[in-house]
Amino acid sequence: MKKFYVTTPIYYVNSRPHLGHLYTTLVADTLARHKRQRGYKVFFLTGTDEHGVNIERAAKQRGIPVQQHVDEIVAEFQRTFAQFDLRYDHWIRTTARYHHQGAQELWRRVRDAGYIYKGEYAGWYCPHCNEFKAEGSQEQPICPLHERPTEYVAEESYFFRLSAFQDRLLELYREHPEFVQPEGRRNEVVSFVRSGLRDLSISRVSISWGIPVPDDPRHVMYVWFDALSNYITALGFGNSERRGFETYWPADLHLVGKDILRFHAVYWPAFLMAAGLPLPRTVFAHGMWLSGGRKMSKTLGNVIDLAVLKRHFTNDMVRYFCLREMVFGQDGDFTYHGLIDRVNADLADGLGNLSSRTLTMVRRYCQGIIPRAQRAQWGPEEREISAKAEEVREAFLRGFDSYQFHRALESVWELIARVDKYLTDNRPWLLSKEETERPRLEVILNTAVKALRFITVLLVPVLPEATASIWRQMGMPGTPADEDPEQLQFDVPVEGTPIGEVKPVFPKIDKEVTMSEIQGKEHPAPAPAAARAASSAGGQAEYITIDDFAKIDLRAGTVVEARRVENTEKLIQLTVDIGEPQPRQLVAGIAQEYKPEDLIGRKVIVVANLKPRKIRGIESNGMILAAAVGDEGRPVLAGFLEDVPNGARLR
Ligand code: MSP
Repeated sequence: MKKFYVTTPIYYVNSRPHLGHLYTTLVADTLARHKRQRGYKVFFLTGTDEHGVNIERAAKQRGIPVQQHVDEIVAEFQRTFAQFDLRYDHWIRTTARYHHQGAQELWRRVRDAGYIYKGEYAGWYCPHCNEFKAEGSQEQPICPLHERPTEYVAEESYFFRLSAFQDRLLELYREHPEFVQPEGRRNEVVSFVRSGLRDLSISRVSISWGIPVPDDPRHVMYVWFDALSNYITALGFGNSERRGFETYWPADLHLVGKDILRFHAVYWPAFLMAAGLPLPRTVFAHGMWLSGGRKMSKTLGNVIDLAVLKRHFTNDMVRYFCLREMVFGQDGDFTYHGLIDRVNADLADGLGNLSSRTLTMVRRYCQGIIPRAQRAQWGPEEREISAKAEEVREAFLRGFDSYQFHRALESVWELIARVDKYLTDNRPWLLSKEETERPRLEVILNTAVKALRFITVLLVPVLPEATASIWRQMGMPGTPADEDPEQLQFDVPVEGTPIGEVKPVFPKIDKEVTMSEIQGKEHPAPAPAAARAASSAGGQAEYITIDDFAKIDLRAGTVVEARRVENTEKLIQLTVDIGEPQPRQLVAGIAQEYKPEDLIGRKVIVVANLKPRKIRGIESNGMILAAAVGDEGRPVLAGFLEDVPNGARLR
């Protein structure tokens, strides 16, 4: 039987679980589900890294014993992962006895092979990344990653002969290009190793919270030596409590963030080579989630809160967004806005709509029984959809096999769009009115159900809840997770099956309401008809990207005509030349502050691509920018100090 062993990093317990932790584990969970569906014997490992000076300090700060501190945070991690229904096979804790035994066994093997020696270390250490930053330097460096001062360490230490592995590592990257992925990251690793490797300090005497070094318990192991070994100790290496080393090692995939790639792609294979153990097949470094284009941070107020995700979104929505939005390997942008937009466009309007529209028609026009269609009745469209489905299956499997989840999903959404168009073009609701069109109607609904079934099977690992629901609604036996996507066929008999109760799988999210709930604000009042500059709400927490900004077409213009709109207090009708063949007509709520005659000839800024709307029966084709001043938001027109030609774009 084929096996698949996938791991996540084990997470430090000096902070509470956040989106970054959830993300890597969610990707591993998706892969594990997918491989299980394909009949692999899967082992999925995640857990916590509980040693290291920082954790000891976090506990001290709280004034509680270290063990109590780590137990509490681990419980919180496990609760959070359970809420998101992440189904790992084992949770490793580096404080577990079996892990201590295993890590010590690895140490002994490396030592006995002659790759560990005792020396003296002097240098600067970052307790946040647990890494020595500058050896022998006089000045105290700042850790570039954490932007905090490093600490000086000078003490007796054991060293690992990393320098002895330079050539063998380079050979590994050359012979097995799949070992480090994606390619860009591999190149970085190769140049790091090429530039020369120094021996690595792998023990400390000034710390007590850690695993004692075999035969010299004054030393505790360097936390990365301890942590990396989790991938084998969890399988019973060097201990008799756990099992599975023979079956699952070497790992098929270590999923890591790019921040910790070096430890996994350089140190880890070197430790294993030294111990004479087989090497993992692939270390894949994914990018980081940013929010609004910036690193998430409490000070910026752009942290994505897992409790908020849980409250306002389903697990499937979060999974889909994480896998579709991030090009796996590159950084991605996570905002609540982006999440809602994707859910509404792809899940509610896309998959959800296809499912309810298809099944509602089966209920309405075929008494809730999936109709029959013979292949001989297929026309060009049915043949095309069937062929497209087969292509999509291949693209989807390729996407998963190469860890390009966004591609895999894109291909499924092409099929969704195709079938949606098929229904719209063929208008089954009209066919249902003519008895003579009955055979055609049945072919169309039969084909749509087959496509929906096909799509559902593929999407199981990404949308486990929604696919199970659609499957039940289709009246299919068993669960879609029982179907192997590799064996998936389009043209299978579905006819005669009574469908279940039809209900929407992804109701559309009201963006305005949800955003104001998330931001803890009142539902915002609709914008007044007056021309206004940016929201006066102040202190906006969400960022937009430069691409979002580029969507607003701001132009310089000159007012050529202006008059009061009758029977109103605030409105002025304007004609503004913004460098187009015809000047624009628009309406602005500025009559209490400006006289029409004073406006003529004035340079203003116009939002030129705002959707036209009628205000008091007058079409307004744009908006003039103004600052909203004071409590009432009194408009003060924006303008220029220098002369600007009409039509000049603002950016
Ligand atoms: N304990 C080490 C790993 C030891 S593995 C043998 C560690 N822990 S950590 O708690 O800092 O977790 C780091 C991992 O969390 C990253 O490699 C990545 O997988 C995930 N992420 C943390 N922040 C992240 C983002 N902003 N975005 C995506 N993932 C991120 O390092």
